[in-house]
This record gives sequence, structure tokens and C-alpha cells, in this order.
Amino acid sequence: MLLELRDISVHYGKIEALKGISVEVAEGEIVTLIGANGAGKSTTLKTISGLRPLSRGSVWFDGQDISRMAGHKRVVAGIGQSPEGRGVFPGMTVRENLMMGAYTRKGDLTKDMDEVFGLFERLSERRDQMAGTMSGGEQQMVAIGRALMARPKVLLLDEPSMGLAPMLVQQIFSIIEEINRRGTTVLLVEQNAQQALKLAHRAYVLETGRIVKSAPASDLLDDPEVRAAYLGGDLGDPEPQDVPPDEPQDRPETGPDLSKG
Ligand SMILES: Nc1ncnc2c1ncn2[C@@H]1O[C@H](COP(=O)(O)OP(=O)(O)OP(=O)(O)O)[C@@H](O)[C@H]1O
Ligand SMILES: [Mg+2]
Repeated sequence: MLLELRDISVHYGKIEALKGISVEVAEGEIVTLIGANGAGKSTTLKTISGLRPLSRGSVWFDGQDISRMAGHKRVVAGIGQSPEGRGVFPGMTVRENLMMGAYTRKGDLTKDMDEVFGLFERLSERRDQMAGTMSGGEQQMVAIGRALMARPKVLLLDEPSMGLAPMLVQQIFSIIEEINRRGTTVLLVEQNAQQALKLAHRAYVLETGRIVKSAPASDLLDDPEVRAAYLGGDLGDPEPQDVPPDEPQDRPETGPDLSKG
């Protein structure tokens, strides 16, 4: 197993945000973690990257217990994170932001930079633009590109589709697929459960700090409980409204409140 959370609990003060969860991510997989606001998705990723301490359990990466390893060392070990929100350096250009992502590495970065520009054409055209002046979607691309510059073995993505227009959502998801095809393992947190489940190999459902389901992603797409709770479906109306029956329903639902970060 490349990444393994063993029965971990995480607290914010007295509040137990993760109540003993276990998650496994094998090399080469795309695993998604879905769940409502406040379920603990971001906390899970922050714990993996070392931003939150454990109160119980352990985190294993590449055969090593990294539970107490400092965050910057985890980056070197191969854990890359593109944080929730965007977290780009606004006063730096796209190119400079990407360079920051590679701060743990030495040597020539041209090839890596070209690879990122190959994935994100939009960034390639804007490589000398200040990241702070870019659109939300473009900043999301910068954040993902920056994480890739560290050549992670596993890429942690926290709601990469948040706030993006439907067309850009599609684009981000197919880029994630391409990143995985090129050999990077992906742990994806999403509220856009439909898209995430279509993309991922396996999925976990998180509810107020507990894993309530884990299964192949395609099984969860057909799971009535998951459909009702996370896919905005099967709540008594069998026919989708205003959508021709054979059109893929890829538009994000007017879902839960996304304003909380
Ligand atoms: N810095 C913090 N201090 C106190 N409580 C926090 C903090 N960060 C998160 N929490 C709490 O921990 C729980 C899990 O939060 P988390 O951000 O992991 O949820 P999430 O699943 O990512 O939600 P969302 O979909 O809204 O991003 C929530 O109840 C939240 O209020
Ligand atoms: Mg979150």
C-alpha cells in the first residue's frame, strides 16, 4: 500500500474531527473521499501532509510510519498537496509559482515545467502573468501544477473543481485523469461526487468524522443511499428535469453551501 491511514483520530481542541478512520491508497490508483461540508475531508488531507497532528492511529507512506514526520519532509518523501482554496503566491508569476513547487529539488526543472505547461495550456500562455491576477480556475491550475513540480508519488487534491464553470470542471477532471495515467497516484477530495466517482477507482464516504462506506467508485455511483445523499438523485423524482434522458448530467448540482473553507 502506498498510503495508509490506520484508525486515525484528529482533534481541533476538544472537537474530534476524525473519529478513527482507516483509508488505503494503492500505487497507481485514484481514490476519492466524498462527504458533506464539515465531514472531515480537508482534515484528512491536512493530516496526511502533516499540517494537523494525530491524536490516535498512524499514517504510513511507502512502507514507513510518517505519523511524526515534519510536513516539509513529507513533501520530499513524495506527498504533494494542492490545498483547498487555491493558495497561490499572488505576487509571483505563474512560472515563479511553479518554481516554488520544486523548492525541494535540485537540477534542471525545464522538463518538469514543460510537462506542466503541456497539461495546462492555459498556464503556458500566461507563464509571465502574476498569479494573483488570474481567474479562479486558472489559479486552481497553478496550484495543481505547483504540486506536480515536486514530482509527488501521491497527489492530494482538495476540491479542485470548487467554484469552476462546468466546462472547466470537465477539463480539470480530465487533467487529473491524465496526471494519473502518467504515473501519479491521486487522493481526491470532492463535493462534486458524481464526477469524482466517475473518475476514481475506489471511494470512501466520510460522514462527520467516520468512514461509512468504502467500495469501488462505480459501485457507489449505483448505490441508492449515496445517490440520495450525494448525487442529488432518487429523492422521489425518477425523471431528471430539463435534461434529455440520454445527455450526460455533468452539471454540478446546486449543492450544499460551498462558502465555508
Ligand atoms: N481550524 C479549525 N478549528 C476548529 N475546528 C475546525 C478547524 N478546521 C476544521 N474544523 C472542524 O472540523 C470539522 C471537519 O472540517 P473539514 O474542514 O475537515 O471538513 P470538510 O469535509 O473539508 O468540509 P468542506 O466540504 O466544507 O470543506 C468541521 O466540523 C470543522 O468545523
Ligand atoms: Mg474541506
